[in-house]
Amino acid sequence: DKGGWSSFMAKEVSEQPDAVANTLRGRVSDSGVHIPELEALGDDVLAGITRIVVVGCGTAAYAGLVAKYAIEKWAGIPVEVELSHEFRYRDPVITRETLVISISQSGETMDTLMAVKYAGDAGARTISICNTQGATIPRESDAAIYTHAGPEVAVASTKAFVAQMTALYLFGLHLARVRGTLTNDEVAVELGELEAIPAKLTTVLETGGSVRQLAHWMADTRAVLFLGRHVGFPVALEGALKLKELAYIHAEGFAAGELKHGPIALIEPGQPVFVIVPSPSRSALLHAKVVSNIQEIRARGARVIAIAEQGDAAVLPFADEVIPIPLAAPLFEPFLAVVPLQLFAMELSLAKGLDVDQPRNLAKSVTVE
Ligand code: M6R
Repeated sequence: DKGGWSSFMAKEVSEQPDAVANTLRGRVSDSGVHIPELEALGDDVLAGITRIVVVGCGTAAYAGLVAKYAIEKWAGIPVEVELSHEFRYRDPVITRETLVISISQSGETMDTLMAVKYAGDAGARTISICNTQGATIPRESDAAIYTHAGPEVAVASTKAFVAQMTALYLFGLHLARVRGTLTNDEVAVELGELEAIPAKLTTVLETGGSVRQLAHWMADTRAVLFLGRHVGFPVALEGALKLKELAYIHAEGFAAGELKHGPIALIEPGQPVFVIVPSPSRSALLHAKVVSNIQEIRARGARVIAIAEQGDAAVLPFADEVIPIPLAAPLFEPFLAVVPLQLFAMELSLAKGLDVDQPRNLAKSVTVE
């Protein structure tokens, strides 16, 4: 049931504040973060982990890439993120102290299931982040942290992505507490940021109208580039994936720092480039670097659409469009910055008269390898 929305995707994008709030519910209290599902593994096991490998496909892998930044910072433990199908068919180094976290909305993605089985057989501890109660991947794992995004029907993943990041951030804070790398007060500050996300998501969803206009202007676009840095990099990858899936447009996401190592050659007059701009107030250094990237591509004729913190005056002279997002601590920006990109892909798909819920050639759950 689309509940009055024109598509499942429109409905699910709008449900993102609830997806985050419901995934937090019951796991945050005055005494900090508590994930009962992790008792299956035990704090002593988590304290002894020396390395984390996150596996997933598509959007799930990008949620993992975002979380890598948070978990390494908070828990001081190396985190690698690998596509499930690549992990499974090489000879990854796995020990009893390796924790493999799989991410899967459906819990049935065959590539990810095989990676989890492989990791378990090789002696790793396994945790599943999953949105579907009782699915195969959580059943194959030592412990499961469920996201509570509600059923996701549209093929393009949206609310599951923000819910996956929420669950992974909760896990990172749990791990930081277990390992003693953050004080209770520090954990409380990060939890406060997380709890503020649903209301900020509601604000970002209000930018829908301006994104729709943008999509209409760009209905004939043949290629779109996305640039981001730090946690904005995986958001750029996710924005490009959404556009490929939904609007059948060639799209690439790049780390902004990589521009001069090749991708800047793609910039020609009129080339649309979305740039995810870090907060000027919270990450001044990264902000300055990304603004300088914007100047470089603008000087070569790029059409710049900046996703930037509300009131960021530095981007105004160089951007053709600015889509504002509310202020958030740097690690929390992906929750907000991804929304205009989801909306853009959806609106462009609609502007081209395509099926936004069921794009061609794709299945919601990929149950073959
Ligand atoms: O169910 P899963 O989370 O395991 O699915 C993984 C990918 O197939 C999925 O995220 C896919 O990339 C989406 N269509 C992206 O929108």
